[in-house]
Parts: sequence; structure tokens; C-alpha cells
Amino acid sequence: MDKLEQAFDFRHACKKFDNTKKISQQDLEYILEAGRQSPSAFGLEPWHFVIVDSENIKKELHTVCYNQEQVTTCSHFVIVLYRKANNFTLQSEYLRQTIARTLPDANDQTAIDDACQSIINFYQHGLANGLTINHSSEMQDYIACANMLTAAAYRGIDSCTIGGFQHDGVVQILGKYMPKFSRESFGVGLCLAFGYRINEPESHTRWPLANITTYLTESN
Ligand SMILES: Cc1cc2nc3c(=O)[nH]c(=O)nc-3n(C[C@H](O)[C@H](O)[C@H](O)COP(=O)(O)O)c2cc1C
Repeated sequence: MDKLEQAFDFRHACKKFDNTKKISQQDLEYILEAGRQSPSAFGLEPWHFVIVDSENIKKELHTVCYNQEQVTTCSHFVIVLYRKANNFTLQSEYLRQTIARTLPDANDQTAIDDACQSIINFYQHGLANGLTINHSSEMQDYIACANMLTAAAYRGIDSCTIGGFQHDGVVQILGKYMPKFSRESFGVGLCLAFGYRINEPESHTRWPLANITTYLTESN
């Protein structure tokens, strides 16, 4: 197996971490960097990563994550927020600044207006199957999450995806500890617990490729 295959094999949904072991800042940033480098629609990076290493805040999160032990035993708990639709209006500073980065003249307000408007038009008319902007952002969070999970495994760090959380409960805790948090602008996409395993995992259960793939070729 090459290193990437080893990482995929190593990663599993870790149910209990060794709470005496902490991830170094360097390793943590390696993981977050994998999230930052992830692809996003129009390059709008509709995410924000909240990193929790406070034991007290983890205890509060534990109760709104259905008392899952991963939350209190992990080294770092990452709440992956998604940007809601109000970040993607013509007046939104976030959209304007994100677009301005890509223009030859970052101060050309007309060019910024035009580029923003074409994205807004797409969001109004082009999203498939009635998808909302909020849902589209949330789906993109999952791409960043997948990359972070793999990056962690690549460094020998365990993880657990935590989709089992009460959205409003997490939002309430964020409101308490994160002065800049706005529930109008952000939703909680997914949470990720990172740390070091205490037990060896079972081997992965997966369908063989033949069961989950269909090739469309010239012979069809
Ligand atoms: C969207 C999503 C939500 C999940 N939520 C939880 C969770 O709340 N708690 C948990 O222990 N595992 C959670 N998992 C992990 C899955 O249960 C796990 O990946 C799956 O059972 C396969 O096991 P493996 O990853 O160890 O191969 C979640 C995975 C995904 C993709």
C-alpha cells in the first residue's frame, strides 16, 4: 500500500480517544490546511472552522452531541460552520472581498459588482433540483471535512465524524463563547473529533468496487 492507501486504511470512526494525548499545533494546522485547500463552488470557501480544545466547552458540547464519548476524550473538536445565503448577496462584504481577490484590480467596484452578480444569478437560477444556497454551502463543508479526515490519518492521527449533534444546541454554545458568531450568517455543517485511539478498530466494512460502480463505455 502507498502512503495514501495506508491513510485510508488507518482512518476509522474512532469511538474513544486517549484523553492524555494532545495533537501538536503543527499537526493541527496540517489538518486545517487540508480543509483550507479544499475546492469550493466559485472558490467562495463557504466554511469556517471552530477549534475547541477547552475541556469545559467540550463537556457542554458532549450533551448536545448525544453524550458521545468522542467529544470529551478527543484532543481537539472541530466545528465546521457553513456560510448561509446572506453571505452571498451583492452587498455582502464577504462575497465582495472574496471575489475582489481574484480580479486584476481588487478595487474596481464595477468589476466586483459584475462578478458577484453573475454568481448570484447562478445561485438564483442554476442550482440543481431546488438546492438552496444554505444546503449547497453545507455540502461543500463535507468536502473540506473529508480532506481533513484524510490529512489527519496521513499523519497517524485518529478522528471521528460527528453528524449526531443537536444543531440548535451547538449554535447556542457557539453564541456563548464566540462573540463574533452570528446564527443568521452561519450554520453548523458537521463536527470532527481528532485525537489518538485508545482501542484498535475493527476492519472496515465496505462493498467491493464491483457493487458500487457502473462504467458507461462505448460498448453500452
Ligand atoms: C455525515 C456523517 C455523520 C456521522 N456521524 C457520526 C456520529 O455522530 N458518531 C459516530 O460515532 N460516527 C459518525 N459517523 C461515522 C460513521 O458511522 C462511520 O464512518 C461508518 O460507520 C463507517 O465506519 P468507518 O468510518 O470506521 O469505516 C458519521 C459519518 C458521517 C459521514
